Amino acid sequence: MFPREFAWGAGTAAYQIEGGWQADGKGPSIWDTFCHEKARVFGEQNGDEACNSYELWEKDLECIQQLGLTHYRLSLSWARLLPDGTTRHVNQKGVQYYRKVLDDLLACSVSPMVTLYHFDLPQALQDQGGWKSAGMATLFDSYAKFCFQTFGDRVKLWITINEPYVCAKLGHEDGIHAPGLKEPGVAAYLVGHNMLRAHAMAWHSYNSFYRTKQKGAVSLAINSDWLEPSSADGAADIAAAERQLAFTLGWFAWPVFVTGDYPEVMRSSVDAQSEKLGCDGGSRLPSFSEDEPAVLGTADFFALNYYTSRKVTPGGGRGEVLCMTSDRGSRDVLDPSWPICGVSWLAVVPHGLRKLLKYIKDTFNNPAVYITENGFSQVGQLQIEDVQRSEFYRDTILEVAKAIQEDGVDVRGYFAWSLLDNFEWADGFSVRFGLFHVDFTDARRSRTIYQSGREYAKMISKYKCGQSE
Ligand code: GAL
Repeated sequence: MFPREFAWGAGTAAYQIEGGWQADGKGPSIWDTFCHEKARVFGEQNGDEACNSYELWEKDLECIQQLGLTHYRLSLSWARLLPDGTTRHVNQKGVQYYRKVLDDLLACSVSPMVTLYHFDLPQALQDQGGWKSAGMATLFDSYAKFCFQTFGDRVKLWITINEPYVCAKLGHEDGIHAPGLKEPGVAAYLVGHNMLRAHAMAWHSYNSFYRTKQKGAVSLAINSDWLEPSSADGAADIAAAERQLAFTLGWFAWPVFVTGDYPEVMRSSVDAQSEKLGCDGGSRLPSFSEDEPAVLGTADFFALNYYTSRKVTPGGGRGEVLCMTSDRGSRDVLDPSWPICGVSWLAVVPHGLRKLLKYIKDTFNNPAVYITENGFSQVGQLQIEDVQRSEFYRDTILEVAKAIQEDGVDVRGYFAWSLLDNFEWADGFSVRFGLFHVDFTDARRSRTIYQSGREYAKMISKYKCGQSE
């Protein structure tokens, strides 16, 4: 059912699991700062200790082995490696930590997929303007080169930036993620643009200086819901769904996979709305410069984070208000037949993943795809026997199989989110995405497998054995 080399993985991110926020010379990141401010995060919780993976990495490795994973996706904490964000000062303790993690994985025949940036910018760089500043792209490129140089002999799969959409929109428009800026309609486009430039520079650096020797592949992880028209025969709904897809998936995938520039509908909408509102300096959606490394063609595979699906209808433009929703002129609605589980935004729609995969195949010229995140959380009363989540993984993996077999999508791997219950950003520890339960009241942070973890392990062993040539 699945190709021989199919990657069976699970993922985590540094800030969500490591803890040790000040250990051994680590610098602060924007998430440290954000969580230490009042009323930012659920219950004013923070990732100071989280799962304490900085000290308990071997426990995580046991979990990885218990599941039988072939791959493990982790992120590097930029500020643990480079405390002020620059290569002027390298924290050797941080280097040693990640070298050990990578060596241990390889010794257990688990291939690492390494994300360079998963939301946790060094605070020192935020103090210089953060992702809104154009200079961040070259600083990211230096950090990326440092990582390729230091760890590249051990890593074949790299993700430069995780979910630029979420960093841009939630961090700089809605203000619910670090750095907590609320600058609607302006900052998100700037941040997204600088992230694309940063990604492209890092890809070109890998391509020019490391690829021949290290033989790895580099991409960026793009999150997208599956979005479909509220009514299948209404032209306005169909156009609204297309616009919405252009403003989420297309925002980052179009420049990288199709034209080197933003989707036409995004360009025309933001330009027109900017003019109407009389914005200083022309369009709020920046343009790519020909003097910089091209963005087009800077992904060796398509990395997709998929969680949920929505129906879309026109609207959402709050009069003349500056915000991304009014630029795109569409809003999404929940389909009442799609059950909501765990958190309020998460309608559980496994077949949406199959549709999105087919869309990606057709729109982006049949790329190799890794599903770099997919999962379903629980909140409230804890269930170790989490029947619904077990079913979710079974159903979802069957949809992936159909995408491969019936739709011919070139899916190369699936990474469940997440290996462990962890610090779920603005929701703190109230939302649990783990295949393993973590007891945050226990100093040892004991890890216990959920039924969904056992189910995933069973599927991995079944599909690995029956893998086709
Ligand atoms: C993603 C993010 C992950 C995880 C997940 C679940 O946006 O990359 O870190 O938190 O959502 O909400």
